[in-house]
Amino acid sequence: MTEETPALSFALHAVDGAARTGEITTPRGQIRTPAFMPVGTAGTVKAMYPSQVRDLGADIVLGNTYHLMLRPGAERLARLGGLHRLMRWDGPILTDSGGFQVMSLSALRKIDEEGVTFRSHIDGSTHRMSPERSIEIQGLIGSDIQMQLDECVRLPAEPAAIESAMRLSLRWAERCRAAFGEQPGRALFGIVQGGDIPALRVESARALVGLDLKGYAIGGLAVGEPQAVMLAMIETVEPHLPAEKPRYLMGVGTPDDIVQAVTRGIDMFDCVMPTRAGRHGLAYTSHGRVNLRNARHAEDIRPLDETSDCPAARDYSRAYLHHLVRSDEILGMMLLTWNNLAYYQGLMASLRAAIREGRLAAFAEETREGWAQGEG
Ligand code: GUN
Repeated sequence: MTEETPALSFALHAVDGAARTGEITTPRGQIRTPAFMPVGTAGTVKAMYPSQVRDLGADIVLGNTYHLMLRPGAERLARLGGLHRLMRWDGPILTDSGGFQVMSLSALRKIDEEGVTFRSHIDGSTHRMSPERSIEIQGLIGSDIQMQLDECVRLPAEPAAIESAMRLSLRWAERCRAAFGEQPGRALFGIVQGGDIPALRVESARALVGLDLKGYAIGGLAVGEPQAVMLAMIETVEPHLPAEKPRYLMGVGTPDDIVQAVTRGIDMFDCVMPTRAGRHGLAYTSHGRVNLRNARHAEDIRPLDETSDCPAARDYSRAYLHHLVRSDEILGMMLLTWNNLAYYQGLMASLRAAIREGRLAAFAEETREGWAQGEG
């Protein structure tokens, strides 16, 4: 990127209640919001070709600092021309900063003011990650939207632990901002923490907004709390976030979580659910979630959804999908991942259209009724 690189920007096109639809413009293309970002943890959206991901309507994918720094390594990735070139994805990439994955995946991790020390889940080697190193790695990866290093606390947790993680995350946000500097074609997002304590959430949001970042994520949710608590925290934080910047709910979620969060003003999502579930025999459909391991599909010649444009949903019988899943065939994982991402991207497109047309509440109601049929 040169000095002439156009700045990353966000334009709102329509609102419906608290919900919004718009577009993030990056030098690598547009991101239509509300957006679902398929998770490409280790440089691949598992079981999918990049061209398929694009054809489903995904404008951006997510990569993980933690995984990529361990394998193939950040400096090696840079020598190979960066992640976009290596994985053959020329659209925007957002990278998570690493803190969350360190806490959930690595052994023997230790957090102090300076950063986090951890053992690799792959070979047991010891690594250090500071806010500065996280930003450096995200730069070497070539990430278009970079996340601050933060500390995410699983719920339920003691208020003192939630508060100290929130404050540490704020100090790390400042250090990430200084390390990131000015990069016109790229963005750094802050992450609101504060667990299930409204006053801490508000304090975190206000302080991050004071740093004037390009976008704001809400982290530390969908980590063990009931959905009602997650939604209440979104409602607490949302009025404190600037309307003209994108809001990203990290690691969420089910189709219902997404509809509910979009209704409350969220613009961006990522979640392993559609891809991971697809590798475990679960399909998301307009009739709800279908478990293809279940014996009742063994002689069911109907497809998952004959009205879908996705060949995986339309052209293969449930009996065949059941057989593939039961036999641990790779094609079963490929077809169900394809179906699931198609369902998620279709849902996002429908949400965008409903907001544009001012009928989000009716759309949400109809969609929920469809899931409740539970035909799956
Ligand atoms: N992914 C899901 N939740 C979080 C969070 O709180 N922080 C980060 N960095 N990533 C997440």
